[in-house]
Amino acid sequence: MPSDPREDKTFYITTPIYYVTAKPHIGTGYTTIMADTLARYQGLRGRRVLFATGVDEHAQKNVRAAEEAGRPIMEFLDGFAAEYSTAWRSLHIEHDRFIRTTEPAHRRAVAHVFDRLLQTGDIYRSEYQGWYCLPDETYLRESDLVDGNCPDCGRPVQEVSQPAYFFRSSHYAEAVLEHIRKNPEFIQPEGRRNEVVAFIESGLRDMCISRAGGGFGVSVPGDEDQVVYVWFDALINYLTVAGYPELDDELWPPDAQLMGKDILPRFHATLWPAMLMALGLSLPRRLLAHGWWVSDKGDKISKSRGNVVYLREEASRLAEVSGCSQEVAVDAVRYFLLREVQFGLDGSFSTHALLGRFNADLANDLGNILNRSLPLVQRYLDGVVPEPGEGAGAFSESVADVRGRVEAALERADFRGALETVWELLAAGNKFIDEKEPWTLHKQGRQAELGAVLYDTLDLIRIVATMLSPVMPAASEQVWRQLGLAGREDLLTWDNCRAGLLPPGTMTAKGEPIFPRVDLSALEAKAEAKAAPSAKETPKEGPKVATVSYEQFSQLDLRVGKIIDVESVPEADRLYKLTVDVGEEEPRTLVAGLAEAFGARELLDASVVVVANLEPAKIRGVQSNGMVLAAGDKVPLALVTFDRDVEPGTKVR
Ligand code: MSP
Repeated sequence: MPSDPREDKTFYITTPIYYVTAKPHIGTGYTTIMADTLARYQGLRGRRVLFATGVDEHAQKNVRAAEEAGRPIMEFLDGFAAEYSTAWRSLHIEHDRFIRTTEPAHRRAVAHVFDRLLQTGDIYRSEYQGWYCLPDETYLRESDLVDGNCPDCGRPVQEVSQPAYFFRSSHYAEAVLEHIRKNPEFIQPEGRRNEVVAFIESGLRDMCISRAGGGFGVSVPGDEDQVVYVWFDALINYLTVAGYPELDDELWPPDAQLMGKDILPRFHATLWPAMLMALGLSLPRRLLAHGWWVSDKGDKISKSRGNVVYLREEASRLAEVSGCSQEVAVDAVRYFLLREVQFGLDGSFSTHALLGRFNADLANDLGNILNRSLPLVQRYLDGVVPEPGEGAGAFSESVADVRGRVEAALERADFRGALETVWELLAAGNKFIDEKEPWTLHKQGRQAELGAVLYDTLDLIRIVATMLSPVMPAASEQVWRQLGLAGREDLLTWDNCRAGLLPPGTMTAKGEPIFPRVDLSALEAKAEAKAAPSAKETPKEGPKVATVSYEQFSQLDLRVGKIIDVESVPEADRLYKLTVDVGEEEPRTLVAGLAEAFGARELLDASVVVVANLEPAKIRGVQSNGMVLAAGDKVPLALVTFDRDVEPGTKVR
């Protein structure tokens, strides 16, 4: 393990604390699942982890929502706090600390910070003239407004004129910029860092941090009429969790603070570091800001926009259509969120994309290696993990290489990169089985070689299950059980992601497939039937397409093609680059949108129908010379193939 001087120190990781006016949804779930994944990963590495999340309760909009619901504020908040905590558990999120800003310890911490900064002169009293966005709980200048509305959420703002306290953010602008420049890992990813620098360089002004007229929140010490501004209050939660004012130096500063890009520039990357500098405390090691989940129309997903996605509901739907367990479905949703989008960029969510990825990555790649190797161990070795023997160790190098790259990716919160890297092992494992043909080894009585091949494959599955456990804890546990390792959680450590540690003699456990494939064509047919319920009664009309003459049809050069190689196309999840033999001197390159529905191995060696005289086109930078025919309109459902062997290049009529 690399010798990090902080390795034995606690790993302290936080999420934003959420407003309770919306129920936990894809956006807040995304942040919290990422934090959980990093927390679990550090736990696997043997670090003592403190993972904190919670709720931001002193918001004016919470008070308004409680009034609208006709409920006493604390009763209203209690219900939501419980709902959040439970919702996170149901998504396999294991937070160590759930903080509520109404907790006495937190209220004391806020009063303490305020008092201290009044004494240092970093907080002063003056007059506030400006605007307030209630949904975002943000003070704004006239010049910030866009068409008179909030620049961030576009909603109307209220005019405010009141005596108030200010925090001297302007005083710290240079120091914060300097810190950002000297510590490139402080704000990640890089694009977000540039945005923050531009924000600070455009001029930081002192920030209004109180509200006149009393009300719900922490009172300004010595001035009962003023209540501390909810953002100033909320940021202090990260200190409260670490024991402020008696900060635990095992915990401080946080190792990673996760958040959406919306609350990075104004709050986490400027106000927050400035507050810490004023308090003389060190700054968090990394601020990790992710993008938004947007609808397919490109709007941010949020309750106020009415396009909200609830992750538990998505998981239940997936369990229903695939037949996998609820637990596995939750993990598949976690996997999808982390795999689908590059950290920092926006992503659009659709159930269709979730199901496609479930089939391609989990049912196919991961499911296949399990469903191919375990039955062979049952059949040939009575289910017992063999001795590795001399020939074993095929994956030693690739595992070490993958492990290093996964570590580096997770350091940058590059979940997608980390998962893609783990998938290289699955591809290698599946290819290994294809090439070694354990069934042939068995037939030929080459027992030692058979043992080595199956040992290496099972050992690889163990390593993959360990690497995936921070993202898919329940599914990995099921894999662990099928390997016969139930009760051997001592082996589940990051350090054990090395080849050759699966104990020979372990009795594997036969089980149901963990990731049963979703029958997308049946689903599509069902959806179509639902869309046209009267289709049975009315005679079916043919689709309205123009007829073509035989002459026109015969201009098509349709030929038998044999797929001899399948590669993925970078940044294009639906596409494969195929190398197809169509009976010519050289095989052709074709780009085909088949990756959603087919694993690479399903396509390899398939005989297909190729439209050979389709005008060549450049797709994602790759020249495509023809097209492969498949059934299905928008989504490929089945390949058009042949019922017996035919030579590549044979004409199709
Ligand atoms: N209470 C403040 C945070 C205070 S932290 C000291 C707040 N709360 S919030 O409920 O509005 O949550 C904002 C966070 O929720 C975002 O930063 C992000 O982590 C997450 N998301 C909410 N909607 C989102 C999307 N549509 N997509 C991705 N994440 C978003 O701001």
